[in-house]
Amino acid sequence: MTSPSAPAVRENGTGTPLVLLHAFPLSARMWEAQLERVPGPAGDDARVVAPDQFGFGADPLDDRPHSLDDAADRIAALLDRLGLERAVLGGLSMGGYVVMAFARRHPERLAGLVLADTRATVDTEAGRNNRERIATAVLAAGSVDLLIEEGTAENLLAPGADPELVDAVRRMIAEADPVAVARAQRAMAARPDSLDDLAALEVPAAVIVGELDTITPLAEARMMAEALGDAELTVIPAVGHLSSLEAPETFNAAVRALLKRVKQYGV
Ligand code: MLT
Repeated sequence: MTSPSAPAVRENGTGTPLVLLHAFPLSARMWEAQLERVPGPAGDDARVVAPDQFGFGADPLDDRPHSLDDAADRIAALLDRLGLERAVLGGLSMGGYVVMAFARRHPERLAGLVLADTRATVDTEAGRNNRERIATAVLAAGSVDLLIEEGTAENLLAPGADPELVDAVRRMIAEADPVAVARAQRAMAARPDSLDDLAALEVPAAVIVGELDTITPLAEARMMAEALGDAELTVIPAVGHLSSLEAPETFNAAVRALLKRVKQYGV
């Protein structure tokens, strides 16, 4: 078996390693505000690393198995490449699913975790069917126009979100390759329930959710926070699913508070 390739990354800062995993159907570009500000004024509170995954952004569209487990193993390969034994892993939505796969496969390499606007539970059958519908349609069309037409950008954000932010998200979606979209949809449809895996962890966690997130709502965030041994739940008022983009300051404050707790654990 060949070892998995490590994905392309954006990186900033020095200090506690924090790997941030992007949402569907975006790229590591969604973490600009975290890359810039989570390391703090002197830039030495955190080494923030944000990889592209599933063929989004600069991640090559090669013929890997395209599962969440493969994505998690590629993060382990990335830690190897960066010379890191352990890191804090954070993921928003699809990124959170990869964090949970990593927690299942490489728990000893986790120093802490951020689960933002994501869920540990599985899809409904209707949800899985809808993912397959999207995967088949974008591959047949050779285009992701369907996602734009179905209002994906608007659904990811709170009602009445800043039109500039809606445009920025729409542009990021338009850059996605249909193969990456199909691959990610099928990988997400196959994910298992992760609540028991979260309960087995012994590291600190931050669970963050936009109050108006309808894709992975507050009830899901509460379930994850209750399953985890040491989690702080932050509900960000008046924002939707992309809380890191809609309220970067509050989001970053929750992440920085977690990094302090990780240091207290002596990691
Ligand atoms: C995401 O934001 O990554 C997606 O909405 C996740 C999903 O489709 O379950």
